[in-house]
Amino acid sequence: MEERHASDRQRSSTDMASRPAASRSLLFNVFLIATAVLMRRLCSVDASATANQQTRPPALFVFGDSIVDTGNNNALTTLIRCNFPPYGQDFPGHNATGRFSNGRVPSDILASRLGIKEYVPAYLGTELSDFDLLTGVSFASGGCGFDPLTAELVSVLTMDNQLDLFKEYKAKLERVAGARRAGEIVSTSLYMVVTGTDDLANTYFTTPFRRDYDLESYIDFVVRCASDFIRKLHGEGARRINIAGAPPIGCVPSQRTNAGGLERDCVSLYNQASVVLNAALEKEIKRLNGSAELPGSVLKYIDLYTPLLDMIQRPGAYGFDVTNRGCCGTGVFEVTLTCNRYTAHACRDPSKFLFWDTYHLTERGYDLLMAQIINRYGL
Ligand SMILES: *[C@@H]1O[C@H](CO)[C@@H](O)[C@H](O)[C@H]1NC(C)=O
Ligand SMILES: *[C@@H]1O[C@H](CO)[C@@H](O)[C@H](O)[C@H]1NC(C)=O
Repeated sequence: MEERHASDRQRSSTDMASRPAASRSLLFNVFLIATAVLMRRLCSVDASATANQQTRPPALFVFGDSIVDTGNNNALTTLIRCNFPPYGQDFPGHNATGRFSNGRVPSDILASRLGIKEYVPAYLGTELSDFDLLTGVSFASGGCGFDPLTAELVSVLTMDNQLDLFKEYKAKLERVAGARRAGEIVSTSLYMVVTGTDDLANTYFTTPFRRDYDLESYIDFVVRCASDFIRKLHGEGARRINIAGAPPIGCVPSQRTNAGGLERDCVSLYNQASVVLNAALEKEIKRLNGSAELPGSVLKYIDLYTPLLDMIQRPGAYGFDVTNRGCCGTGVFEVTLTCNRYTAHACRDPSKFLFWDTYHLTERGYDLLMAQIINRYGL
């Protein structure tokens, strides 16, 4: 864009030099450019002001798994935790808050881009201020899925447990804001739902507990669970709900190690499972969106698969050196308890890695992923 403007300007000034009455047309040109710049200023200020008014929600509420958990699992008795170094090494104060990364996670990044706040606190185990309650929290719990069994297998919060906490939260919000304002906050805020990866990667492909399903019927079941969750969330007053699809599970470092052979290739069966799940989830979201069943709902399906696969396949385009293993330890095995300061140190420069451990992105990975998503879907 800038390059094109520069060359246009250059071309018009060479034209001018060859023309008679150059000074008059120069003045005229300066006038035109000044007007154009001024108009562009006015237009862009105007556009962003209206966009903000239309879309800036008072709060962000987050449900889902470790991609968006900001520390809820710290308060649970589970092995799916990471409140120790090197997790959080690039977070303010090098604080291992229970975020599954070296720094901020997508919940924080979205709240920040919305202009709400820089960090979304975990609902559990946090001393929540009035400001925290008024601007939103995360109920997400690392290791959960839409399938309740996924969370139960690792003793973390199911999506229904997270919804129960949301009900509890709403009572607290009413005490702080009054019933009327609390109702407004609940109905005009943004809800972010990110889960489903662990249903496929852990429960279906790794454990024997859902072997009575074939892949197709398991995916149908997961989408029914997702649909139930969206309905219940709407029943609690949510209207604007963004639901993320599954990433390319077969290219996540842990799955390359588990099933990608000696070369640790992407596992095409697992990626295909994500594609099928995403198509069914998107279809269901479109069906529910603004329907008579969910009046007033504005649902968005967020495709994580395409931008993340592009980052994995074209590291150089994003300034990454490594996208097939994590930054922590050897990068082919370490996650949560096995990524720790005693046996597995972080790599020297996490910003060169897309993945922080064998499941989760680095802060820079999440930043670039969220930038693409916001670019495509808006805020
Ligand atoms: C570290 O994070 C936890 C959880 O978010 C918080 O309670 C604590 O105050 C933080 N500590 C510092 C030193 O920032
Ligand atoms: C849901 O409906 C809104 C209009 O109310 C539309 O902007 C949006 O794209 C729809 N979402 C999906 C996933 O189709």
